[in-house]
Amino acid sequence: MMKRRQFLALSAAAAGTSALISGPVRAQTPATRASASSPGGVLTVQAFTDNDGRPMYATSRQGRPVVEDSRLGFLLTDAVALERGMAMTASQPMTFDDTWEQPWGERRFIRNHYTEWRVAFAETGVLGRRVDVVFRLYDDGLGFRYEFPEQAGLKTVRIGSELTEFNLTENGTAWWIPAWEWNREEYLYNRSSIDAVGSAQTPMTVKGTSGLHVSIHEAACVDYAGMNLRRSEGTKFRAALTPGLTNAAVVREAPFNTPWRTLQVSDTAAGLVESSLILNLNEPNKLGDVSWFKPMKYLGVWWEMHLELKSWNAGLKHGATTVNAIKHIDFAAEHGFGGVLVEGWNVGWDGNWFGNGSDFSFTQTYPDFDIEAVTAHGRAKGVELIGHHETGGNAFHYEQQMEAGFALYERLGMHSVKTGYVADAGGARVAGPDGTPVMAWNESQAMSQHHLRVAEAAARHKVAVNAHEPFKDTGLRRTYPNMISREGARGMEFSAWGQPGNPPEHEANLVFTRLLAGPMDYTPGIFGMETRSPGGVQTTWAKQLALYVVIYSPIQMAADLLIHYEANPGPFQFIKDVPVDWAETRVLNGEVGDYVTIARKDRASDVWALGSVTDEHPRVLTAPLDFLDDGRRYRAEIYRDGPDADYKTKRESIVIEQREVTSADVLTLALAPGGGQAIRFVPLGRARRA
Ligand code: NOJ
Ligand code: CA
Repeated sequence: MMKRRQFLALSAAAAGTSALISGPVRAQTPATRASASSPGGVLTVQAFTDNDGRPMYATSRQGRPVVEDSRLGFLLTDAVALERGMAMTASQPMTFDDTWEQPWGERRFIRNHYTEWRVAFAETGVLGRRVDVVFRLYDDGLGFRYEFPEQAGLKTVRIGSELTEFNLTENGTAWWIPAWEWNREEYLYNRSSIDAVGSAQTPMTVKGTSGLHVSIHEAACVDYAGMNLRRSEGTKFRAALTPGLTNAAVVREAPFNTPWRTLQVSDTAAGLVESSLILNLNEPNKLGDVSWFKPMKYLGVWWEMHLELKSWNAGLKHGATTVNAIKHIDFAAEHGFGGVLVEGWNVGWDGNWFGNGSDFSFTQTYPDFDIEAVTAHGRAKGVELIGHHETGGNAFHYEQQMEAGFALYERLGMHSVKTGYVADAGGARVAGPDGTPVMAWNESQAMSQHHLRVAEAAARHKVAVNAHEPFKDTGLRRTYPNMISREGARGMEFSAWGQPGNPPEHEANLVFTRLLAGPMDYTPGIFGMETRSPGGVQTTWAKQLALYVVIYSPIQMAADLLIHYEANPGPFQFIKDVPVDWAETRVLNGEVGDYVTIARKDRASDVWALGSVTDEHPRVLTAPLDFLDDGRRYRAEIYRDGPDADYKTKRESIVIEQREVTSADVLTLALAPGGGQAIRFVPLGRARRA
């Protein structure tokens, strides 16, 4: 690893007045101010104390304020708040620059180029407690976290609330989903003015009146409560931690670090998506070689359950039968898919599993599902069975069996599992202080511990995890690259039965909000547009194809019924051909909630793919092909909306055509209402030197 140290000057120190603060822990504290900038000088952060000795920070971009004076600190449940009477000592900023490789991902190599700046705060009063704030400044965003050193006056830290603020300078538009509501993260995105947001989950993305885009989120949430944002006044937000098992949201022994609080900042919406800030702020791979997991496309005994053609539970409609699984494996083998997901294979689906989960066995199959025969058949055909562990939110029950469940999968050569935590908000279950189950929030500290235990246990058995109803993604896939994908938003299933289903703008919202956090198992590829949801699937077919490029995940489902693929070999060909593991990603254009066009280069070949999607409005976009190799000819396999395509009336209207292109071409993409376009670029012959 290449590491370059470079010292940047502190801009100013010890400026300003002193203030007298009353009370036992308060002392006279000089106001202090210092700053540091990102390597290219784009972002600057200032840290300071106010006249009460409160730690504060502010951020600007190219001299323009982005976040104004914002508080730092903590309310503790068993001690005086850590917020006043503090003296600040700023260290010299240092610059780091290295490049690391992802085992799989949306790009192969990631440059990690940042300025690190440590600012120590210490109480000047009798308690003398200390906390450091460490900033990492990139040209496209910043992260900061609290680091609690070992200290006599603060051994066990019981955090009631974080006082961290994000005091946005300007008003504008915000895209956000509500925090604390019963359906967890499965909400449609609100588009409102920033000063009309209530309590929001992260990532929350805003576009200020000046046009500047900012996304607030967190990175590396380990053994800590998930952070939401509560608007306190105007355009000022405060971190609001997910409740814990007591009146403390977080209980930790010092020394420890909080997750990084992150701000991605860009002139364009596209810049947010191209940023690798969240991954860069996570620790390097701790699992080592994970080549046993292969990025793949998969089919499933799944959509037919959501359409109520089959059931998870036993009986005449049971979906997870040996015969049905083998039928899917044969189809997968014939068409080049790597895996088949089978839900409802294990005992526990009869009766009330929702928010309960205590009847689930993770080793015992239903009698009509012969897992040995199914996996043997899969092995012979080169198709893996993908496991399923629905827990009903009962992490307590699951933890008692998961090791055995993963051991079973390992023995059967199954290298991935979809987990599920279906329970209303606050309705998960974890071990309480006396070892018996207590209720918890899906993004509580206890659940963050649970998900890491799952990832570690799964890794011991060479199993990769795709969690539904998960703890939100904070980029931990860098450290635990068997955390392959997750849900954590409204997926395609809402277009099967949602009241309402996902509207046409949904995916153009996701790309610039939830997907900034990491991969999503969205499950695209639907051609049967009439479902149980009013309005059915509210996209065109071409948009369904484009989603394979627009939404990144190392596992991508072809979610529809096999009969719909058999009946439509033309558009199905794109699903068969599109790669899932990428060397490069470029965002060609986009506006939050409106449209986006993304091009990605295959990791295993010189093929490129492009996906473009719009909301309910038709659009004509241009796509310069300058990402292709100069001097090389490509066959563009184009899947575009037909002239009469419309998500309400003619979703299946698609034109499939081919033409030859080079990097000098600029394509015009005509997208229908609720439409999209998908293109695969296949090189013809060898590249000539330009
Ligand atoms: C909700 C998940 O999102 C869905 O994919 C799954 O089929 C059901 N839970 C049952 O586990
Ligand atoms: Ca779900």
